[in-house]
Amino acid sequence: MTIILKTEKINKYYNNHLVLKSTSLIIRKGEIYIIKGKSGSGKSTFLSIIGGLEYPSKGKVFFENRSFYDLSDNEQSQIRGKSFGFVFQSFQLVPELTVKENIELPISLLNNLDKKLDVNELVNELDISMHLNKKPSYLSGGEQQRVAIARALITCPKILFADEPTGNLDQETSEVVINLLTKLSLRYNISLIIVTHEKGLIKQPHYSYRMIDGVLKMETNDD
Ligand SMILES: Nc1ncnc2c1ncn2[C@@H]1O[C@H](COP(=O)(O)OP(=O)(O)O)[C@@H](O)[C@H]1O
Ligand SMILES: [Mg+2]
Repeated sequence: MTIILKTEKINKYYNNHLVLKSTSLIIRKGEIYIIKGKSGSGKSTFLSIIGGLEYPSKGKVFFENRSFYDLSDNEQSQIRGKSFGFVFQSFQLVPELTVKENIELPISLLNNLDKKLDVNELVNELDISMHLNKKPSYLSGGEQQRVAIARALITCPKILFADEPTGNLDQETSEVVINLLTKLSLRYNISLIIVTHEKGLIKQPHYSYRMIDGVLKMETNDD
């Protein structure tokens, strides 16, 4: 399987505190990766670094064989916009915009975008087509997260990064959201990286990792 993203011995210091230690990971096309670990272990920091949002203190991130943080700012933001999608615990929808405008926001911000998914198909899959003209505050947490997933997928990214996407949702809603994330990633051949505490949510084959005090360890698939 094609390697899309690779990290080499990532270290990250905040002040003088080493929060990531020599962390390496390989992301292949269309595969699912789960990262678990205690609060404060470095999961979000690692995801931000591999998602092109934050410089490592040491080490490199290779996206399609190019050292991401050695690219120009413009090239970095082009990759972030077109090839990466992000879903966060707090949804991060724009309250003033309708659901439809939120979903299409990445498209309107990017020019020369050659590939995007069909909005109607996405909202039908995510079962939010009846909410398109509403503001996000009228939606439940699970519905808002489904809007955020549509927004992350609309550009048909190569990698979807989800940082505790079910952290604000109840168990039942969490299952729905995780099932949709995995189903749609597999359908569109998008690599999916999920940071989550929750066990047993992922029904698809995947790679499991655990972050322990800034060290990423591969785990056998036991959930
Ligand atoms: N911007 C920051 N400035 C200083 N310290 C930070 C910053 N972000 C995270 N940290 C620290 O780095 C460590 C790892 O945090 P984080 O990656 O958010 O962990 P997790 O997502 O696993 O809960 C924690 O000790 C946290 O306090
Ligand atoms: Mg975190």
